[in-house]
Amino acid sequence: MKSAIVLAAGKGTRMKSSKNKVMHEVLGKPMIGHVVSRLEKLKVDQIVVVVGHQADEIETYLQHRVTYALQDPQLGTGHAVMQAQSLKDQQGQTLILYGDCPLVQVETMHKLYEANQGKALTVLTAILDDPAQYGRIIRDDQGNFVKIVEYKDCDEKQREINEINTGIYCVDNQLLFKHINEISNDNAQKEYYITDLIEIFHHNGYDIQGLPVADVNEVMGINDRVDLAKATAWLQMHINTKWMHQGVTFIDPKSSYIEEDVVIGEDTVIYPNVYLQKGSVIGKSNMILPQTFIVGSIIGDFNTIDSSRITDSRVDSHVNIGPFAHLRNGTVVESKNRIGNFVEFKNSHIGYDSRCAHLTYIGDADVGSKVNLGCGVVTVNYDGKNKFKTIIKDGAFIGSNVNLIAPITIGKDAVVAAGTTANMDVEDGEMAIGRSRQENKVNYGFRYKNK
Ligand code: UD1
Ligand code: CA
Repeated sequence: MKSAIVLAAGKGTRMKSSKNKVMHEVLGKPMIGHVVSRLEKLKVDQIVVVVGHQADEIETYLQHRVTYALQDPQLGTGHAVMQAQSLKDQQGQTLILYGDCPLVQVETMHKLYEANQGKALTVLTAILDDPAQYGRIIRDDQGNFVKIVEYKDCDEKQREINEINTGIYCVDNQLLFKHINEISNDNAQKEYYITDLIEIFHHNGYDIQGLPVADVNEVMGINDRVDLAKATAWLQMHINTKWMHQGVTFIDPKSSYIEEDVVIGEDTVIYPNVYLQKGSVIGKSNMILPQTFIVGSIIGDFNTIDSSRITDSRVDSHVNIGPFAHLRNGTVVESKNRIGNFVEFKNSHIGYDSRCAHLTYIGDADVGSKVNLGCGVVTVNYDGKNKFKTIIKDGAFIGSNVNLIAPITIGKDAVVAAGTTANMDVEDGEMAIGRSRQENKVNYGFRYKNK
């Protein structure tokens, strides 16, 4: 049985925020979300999240992905682990992690589990040039790991030690719950420290060890907003580097923000100031030009997207979008479309090889293939109370500055003349024209100009 305890009850005072520290986002996902996603990938049998300060916020976010233990009041990390009593009778290994340590990778967690097979406790450690305020790893003359001393409890000499506690542990579950209540709060902060477990295990003669982490950046604990920015920068480069190795070009990887759950296909080129978010899937050979946001959307292959925002939508292949287009709310754009500047599509389906080059709003519409939507076409889909549907069939030509008052159907190969406000259906092959007749007055122009 593999279990995990994630500590997330603390207030996070150094963050200076009304929000729980572990709910602050690193590239679009709360810190606690990163930790839990990785544990899910590791296929941990049971994850217990210890909550306390603003527990509701965390429970609303994580829902039933984990079980919860309440720590109230919050008397330290050791006291937090004591609350995970639901694991008390389990056999096997338990990983203990902090919710404010969001960069630790699945491989590292896996290594820690493996390293602790047949042992009592393994602490993930790191050697840092600047050990800052991390807890220090104390070894005896033979180099045996004997205890962890918190920075605030260290003497001058101990502060010079640069091997530190990352706060990630793997422990035999039975031994953990046998000894957890022996931890006392006799220290500088009058808190129960989980780190005291090492000394307790050492006194009992158990087999304990430190396992140095391969990349120290992974174990960065986030205590304030400066740490948060550092962690974001590291994860950003980690993700972008992975995609570069898989054939994606970044013009400037430091200025493109790709969230962890996004997928990008080979030969796609990502320009600066591009944000790919919320599990978007981007295909092959796309050009994603600056100022583009793609959120929760699926993009096919060979598209060019310039300075546009695409949310919860699908775009097939060989489509040209933007600059300044906005696709949202379940919009589907089939292949070979051209969507120009200042065009908004909402909850609409656009068929194969259609055109919508400029200044248009299409909402709640079903548009066929080879349709031309002229400049300034507006689906008038909302009467202030309800939304109505517009249907435009294959091959229709909608002239410029046309209002289509929904519900309305424009037939196959029908034409709606420029300037028309249409509120009646147009049958297949018909032409609709609805505008006042023009009158020209001789010489009125000269008179006006010479006034
Ligand atoms: C802790 C470690 C330190 C280690 C560092 C690594 C202890 C005593 N110290 O220090 O050795 O080098 O992390 O980043 O463990 N929490 C609770 N309940 C509490 C207190 C804290 O759930 O009563 C949670 C917090 O929400 C946080 C985590 O435990 O997610 C760590 O707490 P924090 O106060 O940040 O510990 P550090 O001082 O960073
Ligand atoms: Ca911390």
